[in-house]
Amino acid sequence: MNILVLHGPNLNLLGEREPEVYGAMTLAELDALLRRHARSRGAKLRIFQENCEGALIDLIHKHRTWAQGLVFNPGAYAHYSYALRDAVAAVRFPTIEVHLSDIKKREAFRRKSVIAPVCAAAICGQGAGSYLAALDRLTGPR
Ligand code: DQA
Repeated sequence: MNILVLHGPNLNLLGEREPEVYGAMTLAELDALLRRHARSRGAKLRIFQENCEGALIDLIHKHRTWAQGLVFNPGAYAHYSYALRDAVAAVRFPTIEVHLSDIKKREAFRRKSVIAPVCAAAICGQGAGSYLAALDRLTGPR
């Protein structure tokens, strides 16, 4: 199975960015963990991080025939980007929205995701485990 993994804005700073909220793992370490996990489940990953909304939209469009699933951490765009919501809705493969932190238990503006309604599932609050659970969800039972 081909899975696209997209990390949104500010996630390039994982490890140094608010470690008390997002943990000490760097993005490179997270990506290595995801690649190992995907390999064990027979899935191929393409992983990207972008800070710009349009660049994330372009990646979804570009991979729309290759990808069979998307694991997407939209970062703060989750809370207000109708353009990203439309991009997710435009493609045929299922998207799992992920967040490292538990957005339901944080500031009011983070509690709502405008992207979640067009996703197959949303998983949050498990740190790197949110991404691993999303990979498991897409690749199905072992
Ligand atoms: C985040 C949660 C968002 O609210 C925040 O803007 C992020 C990270 C998370 O993974 O917990 O950038 O998506």
